[in-house]
Amino acid sequence: MAQLRTRNTKGKNATEMAKKIKRGNALRQGSAWRGHRVLIASLLVAVSVCGVAVWLYVTSLESDITETLVSQRELVSPLPRLYTVQCSEDYENYQRYPGCTPQSCGRAVTDGVVTREEAESLRRLAERGLALAGSEGGASILDLHSGALSMGKQFVNIYRYFGEQLQDVFTQEDFQLYRDVRGRIQAVIAETFDLDPNLIYLTKPTFFSRINGTIAKTQHDEYWHPHIDKVTYGSFDYTSLLYLSDYGSDFSGGRFIFMDPTGNRTVEPRTGRVSFFSSGSENLHRVEKVTWGTRYAITVSFTCDPAHAIADPALP
Ligand SMILES: *[C@@H]1O[C@H](CO)[C@@H](O)[C@H](O)[C@H]1NC(C)=O
Ligand SMILES: *[C@@H]1O[C@H](CO)[C@@H](O)[C@H](O)[C@H]1NC(C)=O
Repeated sequence: MAQLRTRNTKGKNATEMAKKIKRGNALRQGSAWRGHRVLIASLLVAVSVCGVAVWLYVTSLESDITETLVSQRELVSPLPRLYTVQCSEDYENYQRYPGCTPQSCGRAVTDGVVTREEAESLRRLAERGLALAGSEGGASILDLHSGALSMGKQFVNIYRYFGEQLQDVFTQEDFQLYRDVRGRIQAVIAETFDLDPNLIYLTKPTFFSRINGTIAKTQHDEYWHPHIDKVTYGSFDYTSLLYLSDYGSDFSGGRFIFMDPTGNRTVEPRTGRVSFFSSGSENLHRVEKVTWGTRYAITVSFTCDPAHAIADPALP
């Protein structure tokens, strides 16, 4: 009996011990669980906070853009898409040239004037030319008319600096294509704005540009400031851009932005796309900073004033 009792007591003690251990384990497990739950909750909060921060950042970047006029994926062809805007008073400060001075103003985009293959040829021309030198900052230009090429913090004249060597860099076909394309751009501008194609003239500066995300070293590299072409260059009446690379795949940032009082409207570069507009303050614009990759384009400018006309370039 006594033995049994002892055994029983022992047994009882053992059960109680086991219970205690179980309870202890349960408590420990519970607190471990609570610990995990707190950790998971904190992680969730952290992830959400990061998410909201990223979202706020992205929307703050995008909030300046009211409307994408033409996206990279769209194909505007064969006819240009025209967005009319009221002409500014800028033109009143200049002599009027009937048949050329803007009567109606606006901006237009077309993918039907220059083929992708032609634009790629012109990009290779630009790559070869710009490889001769280039700016220390992120923005380099090559002007085949004046010969200006970015070099370090300044410019050189390729025709003087490289002379005969250029024959190894450019071909007659390159220059022929360049002249041909600028002629087609001139024709589409005249057609779209109802001008006399013989009374609109190529003017300077007309140049290739290559932009990447490298930090600006001089003012020449600061392409992103809002500006009005007619204010910057009094002779400009129509400005055009021929894009030689694709927004989103060749580079990011670098969208063209018309800064209207009612909102910012963008044109996304696409290889072979021509965008053109009247140069007055009805078309205040800027180029977004390029964030990665390389953006190639050609700026082709036109004037109504024959005194500011320039000739097509020719290989020496
Ligand atoms: C931009 O281009 C220049 C000239 O080719 C090059 O030296 C530089 O590394 C490039 N920067 C970036 C961020 O790609
Ligand atoms: C257009 O963008 C600029 C910044 O690039 C911003 O300051 C301005 O408020 C925007 N305009 C409109 C009407 O949203």
